[in-house]
Order: sequence, then C-alpha cells, then structure tokens
Amino acid sequence: MNISIIGSGRVGSSVALNCCMRELGDVLLLDIVEGLPQGESMDINHQLAELGNDCHVKGSNDYQDMKKSDFVVIVAGIGRKPGMTRMDLLKTNAGIVKDVCNKVRTYSPESIVIVVTNPLDPLTYLALKIINSDKGKVMGMGGMLDLSRFKEYISSTTRMSRSSIQAMVIGEHGENMLPLVRFSSISGIPLSSFINNVQSSEFVTKTRNVAAEVISLKGATVYAPGNAVSAMIDAISRNRRKILPVSAFLEGEYGYSNVCLGVPCVLGSNGIEKIIELDLNQEEKEMLTNGVESVKTAIRELPI
Ligand code: 2OP
Repeated sequence: MNISIIGSGRVGSSVALNCCMRELGDVLLLDIVEGLPQGESMDINHQLAELGNDCHVKGSNDYQDMKKSDFVVIVAGIGRKPGMTRMDLLKTNAGIVKDVCNKVRTYSPESIVIVVTNPLDPLTYLALKIINSDKGKVMGMGGMLDLSRFKEYISSTTRMSRSSIQAMVIGEHGENMLPLVRFSSISGIPLSSFINNVQSSEFVTKTRNVAAEVISLKGATVYAPGNAVSAMIDAISRNRRKILPVSAFLEGEYGYSNVCLGVPCVLGSNGIEKIIELDLNQEEKEMLTNGVESVKTAIRELPI
C-alpha cells in the first residue's frame, strides 16, 4: 500500500511510524515546511532499518509525490492549545483542509481518505464535498481515539486486561461524544456487571475530557492518534471487516442525513462497507442529537 500523510508534525509522524510498525506499506510524509518531513522520515527509517522492517518513509514538500496513493491521511492544520475546544479550530483549519482536499482531488482522487484534523466531523464533511468521492472512501478518525481512552479507563478501574475489553464510542468527536457503557463488555460480560452507576458516568466524563488534560500537560496528543489511524488502515487494507467507530456520512442512519458523525462502521477493502445502527435509549439519543446539531452548525460555516 502507498500511504500519504499530509502534515508531518508530531501526529503525522506518529501515524507514519505506527503504519510502518504494522507493516502496512510505504509512507509519504508531506508538509509545506521544508526539511521537517525529510527529517522525520530519516529518523523513522533509521528505527525501521535496525528492526529489519522494509517499509520506507519518504519526506517531501511536493504534492505531486502523492500520486497513486491508496490512502491519504489529512493531519494538516493547527492543533488545540490548552483551554481551546476542537470547534475553536474550525475557521483556520477549514481553509487548510480545503486546500489539501483540492490537491487530493487533483493527484489522488481514487484514494481512501482519513481526516484527522479538528474539528473532525465537520472537516470530514468538507473533505467529502471537495474531493467528491464515494461516501465510503472518506472518513474521519475520532471515535477510534475516544475508544482507546474509554478502554483505558475500563481496564484501569476494573483491573482487567486491556485485551479483554470490547467497547464503543460514537457521536461527535468533541464535547458531545458518547461512550456507550451499554454496548461495552469485558470478554462478553456486560460492563455494568463490573462497575456501578457512579463509575459509569465518571468514565463518560473522563473519556470526553481527557484529551484536554493531555494537551495541558504535554501540548498535544500524539501516540494514541497515530495508532488509531493505523488501526483503520490495517482494517481496510487487509479487508478485515472490523467494526470500528469512524466519522461517516449519514444518509438516514440514526435518523440523520447530510452530516458526518462517529458511528460503528464495518471497515473492509472498499472503506466503509456498512454503518451499524445501534438501538439507543432516550438519553443516548439526546447526546447523539446534541452532537449532530453541533456538527451541523459548524457545517454551515464551511467554505463549500
Ligand atoms: C484528540 O482527541 C486533539 O482531537 C484530538 O486527541
């Protein structure tokens, strides 16, 4: 596979490293900053050489190099600073992502596109509209990241192996994200058998807020996003048909249309092959609706 990553700061480089460690293919790290993608690619190649891993990373400042990519990962844009919400980035990042998507449409229109730049759900919508690709081929990485945090809380509180945890987080990758305790289990045993109601609502709040905490401590979230993107590429490129939460374009699913939002999707070689509709209760539906309204408000401000 050829994987192009647009934006080679800390998250872009983490995506590159994670893709190589999973041996998903060769990686192009692209950035407008001269020297940065070249330096990052050298550093990663040095690590891979010692490991005997034959995936190659190339750094470039030239969009033409992304021709014939199987995957394009869009990480370009500014990140959250302490105290900012993801929505605060909308105006600046929409302009950047629009420019990048015009390049994707020119050089690699057939690729599967994964948007990482925040605010994730509106910018996934923007990417789909600009690239004008099949709706199954443009998706956002948000739910996978939220899921990794939710799993960590479940594991550390219950003191059960991380490998035994199945969980789901849907909704907006933002203030209205929806970690689903009711659809989570430890080795198939409902999560509610292991935790009480107070712990359950603590998990939800902490999962929603922990990215801000990491950002206030170290300036950015880096490793978990890199892994989450590579997990999506792994599922698609190896046609695993895994059910993972990704931001997808809705056409009536969950009662909503013309919006991108985190939902459980079957990921296979065609990208999003199916959206799974969960039977949500009233409280869960309300949180999902809040997310839809927030994303739709942002969509109205997009430069489309
Ligand atoms: C995250 O959740 C900042 O959206 C990014 O780590």
